[in-house]
Amino acid sequence: MISITYSHPGTILISVAITLSLLYQFFRSISLYVRRQKFKAEHGCQPVLHHYPHRDPILGLDYIRANLTALKHKNYLNTVTKRFHDIGATFDVRVINQPAIVTAEPENIKAVLALRFQDFTLGNRPQVMGDFLGRGIFTTDGNEWAHSRAMLRPNFVKEQVGDLKALERHVQNLFRLIPLNGSTVDLQPLFFRFALDSATEFLFGDSVCSLDQSAEANHNFGQAFNYSMGELALRFRLGPFMAFRRNKKATEAFSVCRTYVDRFVDDAMKYRQNHEMKDFEKEGNLFLQELAKTTDSKERIRDELLNILVAGRDTTASLLSHMLFEISRKPDVWGCLQKEASFLEGKPPTYQQLKEMKYLKFTVQETLRLHPPVPTNVRLCVNDTVLPVGGGRFGDQPIFVPKGCLVVYTVYAMHRRKDYFGEDVEEFRPERWEGQRHSWEYLPFNGGPRTCLGQQYAVTEASYVLVRMLQEYKALETRDLQPWTESLTLTVCSENGVKVVATPA
Ligand code: HEM
Repeated sequence: MISITYSHPGTILISVAITLSLLYQFFRSISLYVRRQKFKAEHGCQPVLHHYPHRDPILGLDYIRANLTALKHKNYLNTVTKRFHDIGATFDVRVINQPAIVTAEPENIKAVLALRFQDFTLGNRPQVMGDFLGRGIFTTDGNEWAHSRAMLRPNFVKEQVGDLKALERHVQNLFRLIPLNGSTVDLQPLFFRFALDSATEFLFGDSVCSLDQSAEANHNFGQAFNYSMGELALRFRLGPFMAFRRNKKATEAFSVCRTYVDRFVDDAMKYRQNHEMKDFEKEGNLFLQELAKTTDSKERIRDELLNILVAGRDTTASLLSHMLFEISRKPDVWGCLQKEASFLEGKPPTYQQLKEMKYLKFTVQETLRLHPPVPTNVRLCVNDTVLPVGGGRFGDQPIFVPKGCLVVYTVYAMHRRKDYFGEDVEEFRPERWEGQRHSWEYLPFNGGPRTCLGQQYAVTEASYVLVRMLQEYKALETRDLQPWTESLTLTVCSENGVKVVATPA
């Protein structure tokens, strides 16, 4: 006897839905595969030549472990540089389900940042930094970013950037903290305070004066800002685990910074409402005043100010610190610089005079080569795209980059490529820049549409400070014979600081 089992109509419906969904997924995968094959053929893409030699080829966690160990031993940047040596200038890596291309190849970096700019975004930066920075130039992509950039760009004009009188006050505060009695001073923390003081003056029209010990009231901001930067760096390292991080102290620090900045923004808004821009202009709050002209959103202005402060403070401090770290170990470079500055006869230089000092320019360039303040960076691919090299038998053919893939680029390693900078890449030698013109292989300020807005400002500031130091001190010599060790957060500085002894002129 035949027994017939009747299925419940609901069960049938679910089975049909599952089958249809599986079929849909299957056809989607096939169609994606076919589309990608066609795309690869059109662009002449070849398989990536070099691969990270995973010991754990399934999850790829060995790559994360190796990175964490290198970070712990303060040796991340050299580890990464050695990897490019051992594996190749472009290689792929996969951690869990996340594919990535890692590169120190100028042509590939140029494609990511400029030629194929539309195919990449900042990835998870908005999530990592959003609590602190809200939405501004440093945390947005697409139209929102373009709007920020258009709004901020006019503020980085020469007249603003070249205002050296404003800098001199902070230089004097810095000099007051450098002992002249032969005792050792660590310049690095002083440069961090200096960079905060000058950046807040530039942005808010009012410095936090963290170098001026009588200005106690503003020090809270400095401390809260430092804490906030540390928190952001940690969040980047936590990667996907960031979602589980709770830190009340960081929330408080973010709030202290926002409240502090709000004071200036409120002033700007009041002027805007009362149509008294003229008075505001007279007070010299140029940056804020320009922003207040372009938007009536208080949050927007505050977020942009904090974004720029984050972009500009530690980077400038890193440049100043590394420059003095290197020069204090090279009395011959100090001598050449002093000779070049002698035509000023002790007077503070003008913007134009700074521009004309060739050896000074080489010194800044060489510092940024050996110690790029933003040593490594990442972009997320949001449309299937192609990078020009890294594929085929010799690694000189284009490679396919699928949507969802990360591209990690390491300027620190690229700046140490012997094929571009010579055999002595590890040496600090400003003279190497004589007659040299580099393009995408030298990239301390990034390139393409998102190139650093503060480049001129930072170079002018660092050059000014250095010249003033050359005038103020006969010698500035290191008291630290250890080799340079990295201290890596979002930017890099020297783990052992910059310990020197100053001899007055
Ligand atoms: C030596 C000092 C500096 C270095 C090496 C440097 C380097 C960089 C780099 C590498 C980027 C690209 C970051 C990215 O897109 O992932 C960048 C962006 C930026 N920098 Fe700088 N920077 C310096 C100083 C400054 C200063 C002093 C300011 C402002 C006062 C500033 C403002 C900005 C802004 C607003 C951006 C975002 C540009 C955009 O996304 O459109 N930077 N900088």
